Amino acid sequence: MAIEEQVRDIEAETAQAIAAAGDEAALEAIRVAELGKKGRVSLLMRELGGMSPQQRQIAGPALNGLKDRLTALITARRSDLETAALNRRLEAEREDMTLPAPREAAGALHPVMQVFEELAAIFADMGFAVAEGPDIEDDFHNFTALNFPPGHPAREMHDTFFMKPGPDGTRKLLRTHTSPIQVRAMLNTPPPLRIIAPGRVYRKDWDATHTPMFHQIEGLVVDQTVHMGHLRSCLTEAFARFFETPAIHARFRPHFFPFTEPSAEMDIRCDRSGGGIRVGEGDDWLEILGCGMVHPNVLRSCGIDPETYQGFAFGLGVDRLAMLKYGMPDLRPYFEADVDWIRHYGFRPWLLPTVTGGLS
Ligand code: PHE
Repeated sequence: MAIEEQVRDIEAETAQAIAAAGDEAALEAIRVAELGKKGRVSLLMRELGGMSPQQRQIAGPALNGLKDRLTALITARRSDLETAALNRRLEAEREDMTLPAPREAAGALHPVMQVFEELAAIFADMGFAVAEGPDIEDDFHNFTALNFPPGHPAREMHDTFFMKPGPDGTRKLLRTHTSPIQVRAMLNTPPPLRIIAPGRVYRKDWDATHTPMFHQIEGLVVDQTVHMGHLRSCLTEAFARFFETPAIHARFRPHFFPFTEPSAEMDIRCDRSGGGIRVGEGDDWLEILGCGMVHPNVLRSCGIDPETYQGFAFGLGVDRLAMLKYGMPDLRPYFEADVDWIRHYGFRPWLLPTVTGGLS
């Protein structure tokens, strides 16, 4: 049989078989039978060596063409089969997103977020609004407006993460505390002001009790007759509600912050005998926040006349507070995204705390 005829027969027969191949395995069997080492086409090609130059001139291109066309048919069929298989799978594995999530897939609210929500509920009940600000701050809001003069050693109190300098040579930074939100609130809204401001803050610290990112809540009140007594009663009341005890005993120790004068740290009485910590009784003290009267320079930097207005402010670390209230022994698992941990310590996301309905 002339080579052209053979090629035509093989091509017609194989093309039909390829089109009929129902899966990858059938297709591969055809490929091996025709184009594999001992395949029909390969064997014919091997005969080229024994042909006369004239025969070879006809048979060579004919066989090479056949090989190319069969390869192309097989490739196309393979891709059709793959697409069909994928479509079958997508069809079979379709999820009904309107079904309730299975229990093991359900998420939970992180204890830090729970404490944010609890404090927001408590302070909202006292007339505070929630304010926010950016994590990436500039020197003015994080330091200068808060009465850290340029080059002042108090700037070294915080180990700051700085960005690369911008075109104007200034460097942005990751805020080291939530106090810049005070500045933004005062610049944006004329007094009287009553805000709390939750947020992430960043310092170069990393050990068993410090993480380079942690959470704070800032509080700020600015009005015409605000004094230390208001600060004290506001915080004592808020923490009695937070720890859900009728009475809490607070102590204010003098401290230093550039942005408050006078400044204090607030401790609450607690009992550490017997393993855990019980708040409201005992002979021990637990440091929970920094606070003070807003420094006149800060008010002035924010366009508020300190002769007419005074303010108090406080800032507290939320991570430690959550540990304390919910009995988590270690800070590090907070940020390990461990599903078992969050299932154990997390909260139902849609049960937002309210002062009247219960916090947790
Ligand atoms: N910003 C202070 C800190 O991070 C806390 C603070 C806030 C103190 C407001 C006084 C008033 O340590």
